[in-house]
Amino acid sequence: MTKKLNFLKFYLPIYTATISKGQSHLYYIDAFASSGKNRLRGVDQILEGSPLIALNTRPPFTSYIFIESNGWYFNELLENIASHQKHFSIQSFFDDSNKLLPDLLRKIPNGSRLFVFFDPEGIQELLWDTVEEVGKRGSAELLITFSCMAVARCCQKRQDEDVLDRFFGTKRWRNIARKRKLGRLTPERARKAFVDLYKIQLRKHFKYVDDVVLVKTEHHKPLYYLILATQDRSLVKIGRQYKTRMCGVE
Ligand SMILES: C[S@@+](CC[C@H](N)C(=O)[O-])C[C@H]1O[C@@H](n2cnc3c(N)ncnc32)[C@H](O)[C@@H]1O
Repeated sequence: MTKKLNFLKFYLPIYTATISKGQSHLYYIDAFASSGKNRLRGVDQILEGSPLIALNTRPPFTSYIFIESNGWYFNELLENIASHQKHFSIQSFFDDSNKLLPDLLRKIPNGSRLFVFFDPEGIQELLWDTVEEVGKRGSAELLITFSCMAVARCCQKRQDEDVLDRFFGTKRWRNIARKRKLGRLTPERARKAFVDLYKIQLRKHFKYVDDVVLVKTEHHKPLYYLILATQDRSLVKIGRQYKTRMCGVE
């Protein structure tokens, strides 16, 4: 949880400082916004969630869009962002991002720059078609949580084949799953192959794609990657700086 949010806190101010020069419309879109605040398990501590991190970013974005499909979280979100409403242009939607986002993107003026955060819990909430809609805009950056644990879990269930097809936007994941099942790939190599396949998909629309963070469970099992996708070389370099400095990974 915190690693993801730490990355956002590091990256967003550099992003807005870099992009806002000469850019009149700069959107932050949080398509899986949740409540805006997270309670840390085991300790009595509340952390800002991604919507509040974005709203507290300086220089600010010019517009904010939040989407959340759970009514309870959505109401909490409205309360948690209320004090920011008078300072910023904020639109909040109680909806399914996969249904709403394509239309919403069409209403955003051409030439606007967008930073889109896709932070689902697993893989069935985010469809490849939705990711592709963002990619087609050409002026968007994407940050995606890629749950390698959810991918590994779904691969073991025949009924989840469609979920994986819709998530990857291709059936090529089946090859990797087959090799893993036959023991021709170790769990580590299969994980790497799955994330590489997703990155290949993203490269159809984004020039630069990199996994910037790998988060593991307390038992050191890989949980998810954060993947950054952009058209802008300088932005992917910022992600790599984070990877090298904060995680000690080359
Ligand atoms: C991992 S949480 C997001 C956490 C948030 N980014 C943060 O850092 O504070 C995922 C959220 O997405 C919501 N969600 C799940 N499916 C969704 C969908 N199709 N459209 C919009 N929100 C969805 C869930 O209710 C949950 O609150």
